Amino acid sequence: MDNNLKFDETGYTVETISLEGKELTYRAYENIVYVKNPVDTDHQKLSIFVPEAYYRDRSMEAYDLKSAPIFFPNTIGGYMPGVPERPGKNFRGKTNAAFFALLKGYVVVSPGARGRGLTDTEGKFTGMAPACIVDLKAAVRYLRHNKTNIPGDVEKIISNGTSAGGALSSLLGVTGNHPDYEPYLKKTGAAHERDDIFAASCYCPITNLEHADMAYEWEFYGRNEYHRMKYEKAEGSKETRKIPVDGIMTDFQIRLSEKEKALFPAYVNSLGLKDKAGRNLELNPEGNGSFKEYIKKFVIASAQKELEKGTDLSDIAWLKVEGKKVISVDFEKFIDFRTRMKETPAFDNVAMGTPENELFGTEDTRYRHFTAFSKEHSAVNGEMAEDRQIKLMNPMNYIGDEKCKSAKNFRIRHGAVDRDTSLAISAILARTLQLNGISVDYCLPWGIPHAGDYDLEELFEWMKKVCTNK
Ligand code: DHB
Repeated sequence: MDNNLKFDETGYTVETISLEGKELTYRAYENIVYVKNPVDTDHQKLSIFVPEAYYRDRSMEAYDLKSAPIFFPNTIGGYMPGVPERPGKNFRGKTNAAFFALLKGYVVVSPGARGRGLTDTEGKFTGMAPACIVDLKAAVRYLRHNKTNIPGDVEKIISNGTSAGGALSSLLGVTGNHPDYEPYLKKTGAAHERDDIFAASCYCPITNLEHADMAYEWEFYGRNEYHRMKYEKAEGSKETRKIPVDGIMTDFQIRLSEKEKALFPAYVNSLGLKDKAGRNLELNPEGNGSFKEYIKKFVIASAQKELEKGTDLSDIAWLKVEGKKVISVDFEKFIDFRTRMKETPAFDNVAMGTPENELFGTEDTRYRHFTAFSKEHSAVNGEMAEDRQIKLMNPMNYIGDEKCKSAKNFRIRHGAVDRDTSLAISAILARTLQLNGISVDYCLPWGIPHAGDYDLEELFEWMKKVCTNK
């Protein structure tokens, strides 16, 4: 296929759907391959959806066809491949953000991207890191390449994603135009354009993978029972079954937990983080100190917001509430309440097999380690990923790097009862961005587990605010 990366303005259909009591008519330009040398045309493609109103009444919510911001929700979960998603129901049966964004007058670009586990016809893995971030960047470049006739404002691209998708949204937001990604973009035939974006919305980002294991143990050390759900497709059935996985960590895992926990303070202290008052955010060797107090403040703020909604929090033993004010949280009891989800190490498993071990594979090797700790303690004599591959996947490695043009606005949400990664991971990301002059709206929504797109009205309010304030 000879793909000149030119957007075909005539290649659309007009669709009407009714959901949530609302009717939406939109133009759909679907399945556009956004690179010249795709290795996977099921994923290296995007779809563009435009409110049909722009072609009739010309304006909506003060925007028109050329000025409407572009909402760019990725569909990546578990670091697996994502495909473009049409407005409608998502795979969980919930009306998706794309539908609501179109109702609000946004142009929606839904990018597909390669992910772990993909293979080509020869059985080579094609979706290991950094394929997913390279593809999202290539999709952004395609839009800029066609800015004269693409619907929407290519200087107002707002990325959105959840979990691994949230991690990628943050990475896309931070690493705009960084030359580290250039060889990969070139190889896959991305347009020669900028790939910086305007803003990034990140739900529960599974990020900073090099330090996520130690952060997890800083939080969950001492809780040796784990509880999670496994999703399995029954043989010959399309239905996914949810199977509980409950267990107790082995003595070996408990020893690893203690060692991982002990690594976290030095990492936190190396970051030079400060709170708004300029006080250092640090941890002592036991894992206590101002950084922990800082995290507690976000939990207290979350509870306070819930209290102000009128929720009765008086029977929560780990919260101290006086009148209309949440006074304190017993952090240890709060973590006991949340419970541990993952065994130690949570991400770079010494026996391999996690989504992240697979993310850092190669064309020929499915799983690799990506932390010195798990390499050293490997139960399978696993290989270590190259420093470069690891670096490319972590926004923390690029914040403040002058070679990037980072988005100026981030919105990060991490549910207060999420256990997929430590709350410290999103807090560190948010604070590091802020200390580098980036505006970040960050909080830990009350009662929310590992999830995204649950507060779309608030997300759209934030989008409107950042788009109008410049
Ligand atoms: C996701 C969840 C995880 O717990 C993880 O380790 C990686 C990805 C996800 O839901 O995308």
